[in-house]
Amino acid sequence: MRAIVAVDENWAIGREGGMLYDLPGDLRHFARMTRGKVLVMGRGTLNSLPGGKPLKDRVNLVMSRDPGLSVPGAQVLQSMAELESAIAEYPPEDVMLMGGETLYTQLLAHCDRAFVTRIQARAPGADRFFPNLDLLPAWRLVSCEPQPAENGLRYSFCEYENQSVRGF
Ligand SMILES: NC(=O)c1ccc[n+]([C@@H]2O[C@H](COP(=O)([O-])OP(=O)(O)OC[C@H]3O[C@@H](n4cnc5c(N)ncnc54)[C@H](OP(=O)(O)O)[C@@H]3O)[C@@H](O)[C@H]2O)c1
Repeated sequence: MRAIVAVDENWAIGREGGMLYDLPGDLRHFARMTRGKVLVMGRGTLNSLPGGKPLKDRVNLVMSRDPGLSVPGAQVLQSMAELESAIAEYPPEDVMLMGGETLYTQLLAHCDRAFVTRIQARAPGADRFFPNLDLLPAWRLVSCEPQPAENGLRYSFCEYENQSVRGF
């Protein structure tokens, strides 16, 4: 499994159920990195997508403990055990963990890579965060590619690797 996320200088990722920044280049990057793959997301992240709908051209796996939840175009999974069996049929490198905070926190140790868009800003009032990989001994920064600034924001596409991946 691999994580994909956009963070700012505080490793903040969201506020009041939505994203913090508007970066079309990062959305294109996300589409490129995930098209044809398997997305793992929490119900909160599903709700933050346009129309609260799954993303097309990808397998959408949504985590929720609500037994009554049914999402057209997505498979709803109620536990980590259900997630484990659902992803077993796919190559691990095709399974992309796309958030939010609660899912990143529970599953980061199982990820071998993290694709992190690092935005040079600090959003006021952020209420969701990604673990600071620069402070986690298992994680190593592999590369960072600066992108042209957008909407006055400078950002880079970075890649981290986990040197101590935990199995399920
Ligand atoms: N910057 C980024 O790259 C990025 C990426 C993704 C999301 N975000 C932001 O992050 C925020 C959403 O994150 P969040 O932490 O609030 O929500 P979330 O992680 O997307 O979803 C949380 C929900 O997932 C379900 N869940 C969590 N663990 C589970 C488990 N072990 N088994 C079954 N279901 C489980 C529960 O759903 P039920 O309540 O239905 O049981 C829980 O309420 C939004 O602001 C969004 O915009 C940012």
